[in-house]
Amino acid sequence: MERKCYFLIPAAGSGTRMGAGLPKLMRNVEGSPVILRTLGAIAEVCRKRYSGLDYRIILVTTNDLIDTLKAMCSEYFSDINISFTLGGATRTESVSKGIGLITDAAEDDFVLVHDGARCLITEEEITACIDGLMVHEVCASAVPVKNTLKQVEVLPSGEVKVISTPDRSGFYEILTPQGFRYGGIRKCYDKAINEGITATDDTALAELLGLEVILTKGLYSNLKITTPEDIAIASEIVRSRGESEPFHD
Ligand code: CTP
Ligand code: MG
Repeated sequence: MERKCYFLIPAAGSGTRMGAGLPKLMRNVEGSPVILRTLGAIAEVCRKRYSGLDYRIILVTTNDLIDTLKAMCSEYFSDINISFTLGGATRTESVSKGIGLITDAAEDDFVLVHDGARCLITEEEITACIDGLMVHEVCASAVPVKNTLKQVEVLPSGEVKVISTPDRSGFYEILTPQGFRYGGIRKCYDKAINEGITATDDTALAELLGLEVILTKGLYSNLKITTPEDIAIASEIVRSRGESEPFHD
């Protein structure tokens, strides 16, 4: 039997930092809503049956968006196996609900979690994560930190005091996709839900379970649409698609 690969897309946030108005996942980036771009990039990998896997998509969304997204998926992705569920109050809860939809997986099938808001994801990053999972238990897309970081302490006055300057070469910024074997991600999220742990990414839970996490080559352009200026930046990246992307191979 072919190995299955599930793309689990958390798209159930409230977009608070984007502000009022159209939900952020429906905002227009060069003629396409954010979520349609995200799904489009993933659908390409599914359609190519990359590495001979049997692909499915699980879309975790909100009451407000579910009907629109179902209509969008039947218009653009009717050839792909997509299931839908409603999310929870946190990303951790939303991902957990998505995992709950997986009922037919073998322990070593793949599950790649990818933020609905990361609409500039490229095929290259997705396939790097899949290739990594052929060998490793947990893999996630990442880029070396570009800026100098400061460890700080917030003083009682509210001022921010610098404590130290860590060596930047020891830090990577984590992106998505973040890939697991089904058995591994289920254990991570069972623990998170049972113990009330909330994490902003998936690999933090893998670390808690002691699973080894290997980083795969991400792109700096894989930004998460979060605040209003990200729409303008993403639009410009779509227009140019010219990037310089260092990574330690
Ligand atoms: N997400 C989710 N369920 C939540 C919170 C977030 O599915 N309860 C999803 C978002 O839809 C997004 C991804 O997780 O695709 C990353 O979250 P983030 O960028 O923080 O989006 P929001 O939580 O929607 O934005 P904000 O934090 O500004 O409210
Ligand atoms: Mg959020």
